[in-house]
Amino acid sequence: MPASTKRKPRGKRGAKKTRDTSTARAEARGSSWDPRIVVFACNWCSYAGADTAGVSRIQHQPHFRMIRVMCSGRIQPGFVLRAFEKGADGVLVSGCHFGDCHYVFGNERAVEQFEKTKNVVRLLGLEEGRLRLEWISAAEGVRFAEVINEFTDQVRQLGPSPLADKRVISSQSSVISKERAAEVVH
Ligand code: FES
Repeated sequence: MPASTKRKPRGKRGAKKTRDTSTARAEARGSSWDPRIVVFACNWCSYAGADTAGVSRIQHQPHFRMIRVMCSGRIQPGFVLRAFEKGADGVLVSGCHFGDCHYVFGNERAVEQFEKTKNVVRLLGLEEGRLRLEWISAAEGVRFAEVINEFTDQVRQLGPSPLADKRVISSQSSVISKERAAEVVH
């Protein structure tokens, strides 16, 4: 067999990756690390609140990506879990205050969904502090900035999500079967 086609023994390669990953995660806990946060925001209140913060030039931490949905009631546990699976360190769900939802009961539905999501997140071994639900109106630009700053600091304290490491995800998947997740969600 030519030298170029020889394959390295699996054990050694795996060991190097493990060392590299743990070093990277340890370094990530240092001061230079910035969390990756996903914000699900309803179109009519929270997304508009973020807009108000922007047009009012209110300073806040920038380490988040916002996903606009029509109503917070649309945010199912699967959305949040997908965000964590894709490497989010924290997820914020936000919508209109009670009584202001444009679909009347949408945010009440959001509370129910959020409780189910918390159960699944707990099963995955993630800290509850990585998940948050907030009501932010279109006029509350200052509040939007405060929530983002507070939540970013909170997630920063927790450090990088263990689920961001793909190998951990696959081992967790075998611990929590689809059937068990379905039991918790339904
Ligand atoms: S429209 Fe904002 S929570 Fe329903």
